[in-house]
Formats: sequence, C-alpha cells, structure tokens
Amino acid sequence: MSSYEYTDHEYDVVVVGAGGAGLRATLGMAEQGLKTACVSKVFPTRSHTVAAQGGIAASLGNMDVGTEMNDHWQWHLYDTVKGSDWLGDTDAMEYLVREAPKAVYELEHYGVPFSRTEEGKIYQRPFGGHTTEFGEGPPVQRTCAAADRTGHAILHTLYGQSLKNNAEFYIEYFVTDLIMTEDGRCQGVIAWKLDDGTIHRFNAKMVVLATGGYGRAYFSATSAHTCTGDGGGMVARQGLALQDMEFVQFHPTGIYGSGCLITEGARGEGGYLTNSEGERFMERYAPTYKDLASRDVVSRCMTMEIREGRGIGAEGDHIHLHLNHLPPETLAERLPGISESARIFAGVDVNKEPIPVLPTVHYNMGGIPTNYWGEVLDPTAKDHDRILPGLMAVGEAGCASVHGANRLGSNSLIDLVVFGRAAAIKAAEVVDPKAPNEPLNEKSVEKSMARFDAMRHADGATSTADLRLEMQKTMQADAAVFRTDKTLAEGVEKMTAVAKKMTDIKVTDRSLIWNSDLMESLELSNLMPNAMATIVGAEARKESRGAHAHEDYPDRDDKVWRKHSLARVTDHKVKLSYRDVHLDPLTKQEDGGIDIKKIAPKARVY
Ligand code: FUM
Repeated sequence: MSSYEYTDHEYDVVVVGAGGAGLRATLGMAEQGLKTACVSKVFPTRSHTVAAQGGIAASLGNMDVGTEMNDHWQWHLYDTVKGSDWLGDTDAMEYLVREAPKAVYELEHYGVPFSRTEEGKIYQRPFGGHTTEFGEGPPVQRTCAAADRTGHAILHTLYGQSLKNNAEFYIEYFVTDLIMTEDGRCQGVIAWKLDDGTIHRFNAKMVVLATGGYGRAYFSATSAHTCTGDGGGMVARQGLALQDMEFVQFHPTGIYGSGCLITEGARGEGGYLTNSEGERFMERYAPTYKDLASRDVVSRCMTMEIREGRGIGAEGDHIHLHLNHLPPETLAERLPGISESARIFAGVDVNKEPIPVLPTVHYNMGGIPTNYWGEVLDPTAKDHDRILPGLMAVGEAGCASVHGANRLGSNSLIDLVVFGRAAAIKAAEVVDPKAPNEPLNEKSVEKSMARFDAMRHADGATSTADLRLEMQKTMQADAAVFRTDKTLAEGVEKMTAVAKKMTDIKVTDRSLIWNSDLMESLELSNLMPNAMATIVGAEARKESRGAHAHEDYPDRDDKVWRKHSLARVTDHKVKLSYRDVHLDPLTKQEDGGIDIKKIAPKARVY
C-alpha cells in the first residue's frame, strides 16, 4: 500500500490536455451540460497549439483561384488521401473534410479573430499539397488564417469560451496514469499537483486524452519541450497498442540551429527555397506545385540537395528560404510572427535576407488508435475496431487516422477542432450525467502510485537529462528523413539499450513540490515507449510511404503494406501487429459521396 493521501474529484468527463483538441472537447462537453474538468500540465494558453502558425484547412472557397468553383470538400478529401499516401482511413478523412467548414464557422462565431478579405470573408492562403480539381488544377487557397498566429488565436478563444460555459480547469496538474478496471474500462486518471505536491484522483465516466505529440523524442523539433507523448505513454502502460508510429513528419522550414518553426504559410504567400547555387530546386522535383508540394516531399528534396553538395553555409548543411522579394506590407500583415522569429532566432531581417532553414521534426501522424468519434479502439479485439469503454483520444495524441503516412499542412488545426467537437457530440450520447460514478479500482490506483513512488526514489546511476539526450540523438540519427535497413537496425539496437536504462535512472530531488527532476523523469518514461514504437515500426515496414522514406525499398507497396501498424510496448520490447485501412467513404456516391475511383491509389507526384 502506498502512503500517499488523495484528494478525490468526480466528473462526467475529464479532458487531459488543454491544447486546441483538449479545449474544443472541453468546450463541447460543457456546452452540452456535462460536468467537465480539463486537467493540464501547463497553463492552457501556453499549450503547444499556441505555436501553430499558418492556419486551419477548410474548403470555404472564399478566394478566387481561377477555377469554375473556388473549392469543394471532395477536392479537400482527394488531397488528404493523396497526402496520406493512401494510408488514411477514408471514413475518418471524409468526416474531417466535410465537418471542417462547420467547425471553422463555429470558431469564427466563438470569436477567433481571423484575417479578412476585402469583402470581410475569412482570409485563406495556399498551403502545400492543397489543390483544385482532384490534383489537376491550380493550388487552392484553403488555409484559413489569423495572420501567422492562428493557433494562438484559436487557443485564447476556446479557453475563454470554456470558462464561460463553466468548464473547470486544473492547471499545472501532471496526469501520471489512467485508472482502469480489471476488464479494461477506463474510470479516470491520477494527477500530481505540481505546486503543492498533492495527489488527485479524478473519477470520470469518460476520459479524453488530448496530450499532444511526442516530438521531444527527437533532438531537433518544432514541438514545445512539453510534447512528451504523455497520452501514448499512459496507454502503452495499460498494454494497449499505438498505431502508425513509424510516420514522423519533418517540417521543411525549421530555423537552422534552433528548430523554431517558419510557417509553410511563408511559401503560401510566395516564399521559395534555394540551394547554394541560388537555384529554385523544387521546380526540378515537383514541376507543377513546386515549393507547395506536400511537406514530406519538400523535406526529402531539401535533404537530397544537401547530400548532393548543394547545401548552404560553411558546412553546406542547410537551405535558404526567401521572403525578401515580397512586399514589406505583406510581411507585416500576413507574416509578422515569423518575421520576428527569423530576427530573434536567425538574426535575419526577412525584408533583406533569406532565412536559413532545415527539415525539422514537427508532427506525429501515429498515436492512440481511435474511430472518427475519438473513441479509443481496443486492438486486442479480433477486428481491431472494438471500442474501449470510457476512453477517448483526440488531436495529435490520437490516430483517427486522417493523416495516414503524411499530414498536409493546416490539416492539424482542423483535426483538433473537428475531432474535439466530435468527441463532445459522442460523449453527450454515451455519458449519462444522472448516473452515479462507479467506485475506482483501488488496485489500478495502487499500481500507478507504486510506479510514481519508485520513480520519485529512483537511485540508479543515469541522469534523466543524459538518458533523454541519448534517446533524442539516436532517434534523430536513425529514424530520420531518409532511413535504411542498416540505420534502422542499428537504431532499434541502440534504442533498446537506451530504454533498458530507464531502470537505472537517478532522481536527485525527492520532494513533491515543483520537482522538475521527477516531472522530467516521468515525461521521459512516456517518451520512451513512443520512441520505441516508432523505430521498431519503421524497421519492420519494408516500403516507402509518406514520411517513411526507406532507401532500400524506395517504392510504395500497396499489396503488402497498405495497412496500419499496431505497436504494443512493454518496457523495452515492442510487439507489432497490423490492421486494415478503412477503404470505404462514409457516404455512397449515389447519396452525394465521392466516386471512389477518384481516390484510388496511384503514383504520388506534385
Ligand atoms: O507551417 C505551419 O504553419 C504549420 C502548420 C501545420 O503543421 O499544420
């Protein structure tokens, strides 16, 4: 028995995480009269969504692009399917793109200060991989923007609206584990209150994991230091699988050195990339869409330029992004945030000089497997699609799967709000606010607190910071933009050794109040299964698809590999299995759905 005392709370719904998906779910639940708590390790408006710059995709069709109609949800679906390299689930992707306009107009009505066209409509900019006429027409302007601070604007608006609707916030509480029944239902979570050291048990009829991605498993990432895959870690500890973890997105334009994001919106507004010869090399690789090809493609092309000796700088190890030809008014009005970032992090005046950039880890396509309502699926079930009662996952933590092997830029913010909203719609159906909460499974609580206590008193020989660095460097080197059998096999071996060292961690501070050493150790224990699932899943996948560019298998192999991977991680061991991709759209063609011939697999060229 652990010696910890608990403060108990009862809710209909507990949302873990207060980024865009967590806040949209919180708001939706509260609006529908469910007693809702949102528990977050950081202040809500400091969640990583605040860093999202370029915008949110929805086929509003506000901008004239010279086609008969400006945009259509079916074009957005086609682009998303192609962007995913035919690995996304078609039903979920259709749900995403059809609900997108509704979700954006709701944001507008909640008060998001979108940039405007002359006529006062929401301003939309071009983004990579977003096209017209099923990839045959010109680039579309589909990405709704609030200058280059769209995530910031959305986060502040959703937080305000959630408070207005009486959602309750537990801020700077670190959720350590799920509380589960013996037969696999989720009953709530345990959290450590960081400023006073108290331990809290949240009993809930529904838990929603909105904990974000695990970018910090890598050395250089656009992700905040808080992006430690906490939801994935919690789910893995329950013996549940993570899905499609080998697909890690590199954003083409992280600032060289710091990794700080320069939005794809910069290329959307007319920016372009050059190599050491001053050549706009994307014209060679993607003759139609050039710098606005899908981001996995652009990242690979940049890496090839560097490898072939056309990188920039003394070490020939980066690329230039030019904005200096754009009118200063455009930079000031549309891209003020990145103009400031370039000055602070690269010492560059974007009006005069190019920005040094490099592909940088940005997004995890994989995550906790869910359906398009956000309900977590139990992969131990034969059909892999059985719903796990009491648990949902949304946003980057979840895998619905709408991004498949590669996500299109600006499809992330729309994923957050569409699926945060969908989770609330579903919860209102399945959660009975009048029913009593059931007593918590004490065994599950004890097990979790024993783990917490062991970490708090860990007295090995390895510092958390050193082990984290070892993990980050291994992932950066061996699960990179380009992968080979050799690098992946070495990576699996090295990561297995790194993960084993978790049992040799030394935590130096035993206190419970603002103990960042303990907090970072617990975060590392979450990053580790995410990293292991990534590298083992990548080693097993003998093809190239989306963000998984395997040099020994350069082609996509739909016969064998058009399937989702499922990784169950126990300590340092990973067990892989696979599940089918959902090929059927939600709506039949005769009922107004897409002609599935339009989204049949083909070569992916831009
Ligand atoms: O480039 C960007 O503004 C990032 C957007 C995204 O990842 O969706």
